[in-house]
Amino acid sequence: MMHVTPQAELSSYHTFSIKAHCDFLVEATSLDDLIQIYTHSEWKNLPKLPLGTGSNMLFTEHFAGVAILNRLKGREIKEDEQHFLLEVAAGEDWPSLVEWAVDKGMFGLENLALIPGCAGTAPIQNIGAYGIEFKDVCDFVEYLDLESLTLKRLSCNECYFAYRDSIFKQQLSGKALITKVGLKLSKVWTPKTAYGALQQLIEGEPSARKIFDAVCQVRRSKLPDPKVMGNAGSFFKNPVIPTAQFTELQKRYPNIVGYPAGEQMKVAAGWLIDNAGLKGYTHGGARVHAQQALVIVNFNQAVATDVLAVAWHVRETILQKYQIELEHEVRFMGSKQETNLVSLFQGASNERL
Ligand code: FAD
Ligand code: EPU
Repeated sequence: MMHVTPQAELSSYHTFSIKAHCDFLVEATSLDDLIQIYTHSEWKNLPKLPLGTGSNMLFTEHFAGVAILNRLKGREIKEDEQHFLLEVAAGEDWPSLVEWAVDKGMFGLENLALIPGCAGTAPIQNIGAYGIEFKDVCDFVEYLDLESLTLKRLSCNECYFAYRDSIFKQQLSGKALITKVGLKLSKVWTPKTAYGALQQLIEGEPSARKIFDAVCQVRRSKLPDPKVMGNAGSFFKNPVIPTAQFTELQKRYPNIVGYPAGEQMKVAAGWLIDNAGLKGYTHGGARVHAQQALVIVNFNQAVATDVLAVAWHVRETILQKYQIELEHEVRFMGSKQETNLVSLFQGASNERL
């Protein structure tokens, strides 16, 4: 029997820990559960929202639909001559999976240590940190096609992974519920220690365990722990701008931080926000985090509109100061469908007109 909670309060199901309700909260532990949810006669016309641990979510109002906690569990190790091939159910906890793999001598995930969330959510925005992205370890992604209610599988290439992006945020948005991921870890391990802060922390020959520990140390020093202070990690993505624009900005701001990204430049949004003097900018219970300007925190019983007001002020300031439009990485859920900062604010000003 599935566990169903009507009118559930969601603050413990997302890491911003902001009060919000949904019509129904359902816990799915099997594929059968998922199919039942999507064919349930009472819920047929209600919007549905799959949730992992809610570490990339902001509920902007009451969600008038069915929130589905994905709790499909199971890890399987297969191998071929060159690789460990892990098959991981979507509801497995990502940080525990990374530590387990390192402990078992299967290396390649260590740079992605401590990223909160479920394994099945990792492909959606192609999680990344400290020189690695999910795409570098992905073999396949299996999902429930929500039209035919059949399982389908995409190879890594077919997922169209890009910086904080994949097919699951594009063509398959709202059409696929990920049920399993396949990871491919080479038995010949190459350490990835190019990220500056890691180099400084690792003494002697790097090992996967040393990288794992160093990544955990850097992350703990910069990123607020959601158990202590609500947040959803980087609120905005690092913007990618034309190199000519970057060169112009560099004349005005010689310390600006950016990295080549193909033909363009990826700019550190944290630096832009910090340099605009916005660290600590506060509205109600939400503020720009003092240790990492790319993170917005719920420091004191924030409501969603506090977070939105801070985010809008940051976006507008950055646009005016540098002519760069920030896009948020955090996914916003409105009452019936996904929404975003621009439609919420422009929608509101249109109503006033
Ligand atoms: P949720 O927040 O529950 O869901 C995110 C989105 O995916 C929602 O739109 C949801 O509807 C959808 N979804 C969830 N499960 C499924 C499914 N099975 N099928 C289809 N859709 C689904 N991200 C990084 O990339 N790098 C980082 O270094 C990083 N650091 C972070 C640090 C902190 C402190 C926090 C709080 C977040 C950080 N994040 C980072 C963001 C977050 O960890 C990732 O986005 C993660 O993959 C979210 O997983 P989740 O299970 O919590 O997803
Ligand atoms: N910076 C500042 N001030 C700040 C924050 C950053 O000057 O307040 C500068 C730093 O000094 C550094 C640069 O900006 O030179 C980049 O900062 P950092 O290394 O902390 O990384 P980031 O670009 O802010 C990205 C990801 C993180 C990921 C880290 C490590 C995005 C949107 N964010 O952050 O992912 O953990 O790199 O690889 O790409 C997330 O997506 O939620 C997330 C936390």
